[in-house]
Amino acid sequence: MKRGIGTAMLLLVLALVGASVRSEEAGKMKNIRKVEFGTSEDGKKVDLYILTNKSGMEVSITNFGGTVVAIKVPDRKGKVTDITLGYDSLDGYLSDKSYFGATIGRYGNRIAHGEFTLKGVKYTLARNNGENHLHGGIKGFNKALWTAEKTSSSGPTSLRLRHVSKDGEEGYPGNLTVQVTFTLTERNELKIDYSAITDKETVVNLTNHTYFNLGETDTILEHELMLKASHYTPVDAGLIPTGELRDVKGSPFDFLKPTAIGARIDQDDEQLKLGKGYDHNWVVDGGSEKKLKLAATAYEPKTGRAFEVWTTEPGIQFYSGNFLDGTVHGKGGKAYPRRSGFCLETQHFPDSPNHPNFPSTVLMPGAKYYSETIYKFFTK
Ligand code: GLA
Repeated sequence: MKRGIGTAMLLLVLALVGASVRSEEAGKMKNIRKVEFGTSEDGKKVDLYILTNKSGMEVSITNFGGTVVAIKVPDRKGKVTDITLGYDSLDGYLSDKSYFGATIGRYGNRIAHGEFTLKGVKYTLARNNGENHLHGGIKGFNKALWTAEKTSSSGPTSLRLRHVSKDGEEGYPGNLTVQVTFTLTERNELKIDYSAITDKETVVNLTNHTYFNLGETDTILEHELMLKASHYTPVDAGLIPTGELRDVKGSPFDFLKPTAIGARIDQDDEQLKLGKGYDHNWVVDGGSEKKLKLAATAYEPKTGRAFEVWTTEPGIQFYSGNFLDGTVHGKGGKAYPRRSGFCLETQHFPDSPNHPNFPSTVLMPGAKYYSETIYKFFTK
């Protein structure tokens, strides 16, 4: 009899525990939905993961290229709209050359002549941007099919993507195992954290290439931008940094106070001409410390949508979408004209492997690469 009651109690406890585990799982699952997104060129199934929070924000990410496909946020009247450029289906991303929403690696931005030397050994990378190497090469991480897993830790909804880049890929040394985790918090933050390990000394510089347009106009020129950076890295004709850290004071590169992107973009300035607009790396103030700090804010006055960018990275590439020319048709068949989206790519400086005065991008075996960026959305 005694044993009977004990067993019944035990079964009841087990049933309750089981139920709570199940409801907890269901709770987690309801914040992340997986749908089919298509088939890659080599016949593999590609998925789209839709992360939602209770504040009405939604972020869609595909494991093809670790790509942010959509970020839906409310405007000041509560109207929810996707504020990113991209495509409706996988096909667009398979042939994309604009890097819409993509995870960029192994090296964000350019490496001069696709060459660098580590411990006396010269490495030659793919030259996919004139004579230079751009965004990881011909088949960068933006064209890789990543392995996805939903993280089951308690707390906010996260999607973790993994990718192994083989020794010699695009010319880079070392097998590099990369993990990128996207987290949507209840405070309307999209947090992206990156980690990587290698089995040979190599260089790494990971970023995300989302194009934003917070408004409902064709260009982003009326957005007000603040860059918490007193210096930037001027470039040569191939958009390779000269090595100088130039003070922004008195130039169209001073965004220390919020300023409309379009206010000075067409000024007669040598650097603006070379970039065909803004396409430069800013040196984030206090960026040498590897802690989270505010690097940028963007605000669109008509809709009231705004976001902050917090990062552990020392640099931020502000690209004003100068190479868009209306020939790419994106979401809803819409043509994307020049400057219809802008990117804020948190990163180490371009061409760092060839500039000993820039913060190092070298990753040694046994060490761990770690980088974190938060896009925090709000209205005002
Ligand atoms: C980065 C580069 C630009 C351009 C875009 C993609 O922002 O700095 O020059 O290559 O990516 O078009």
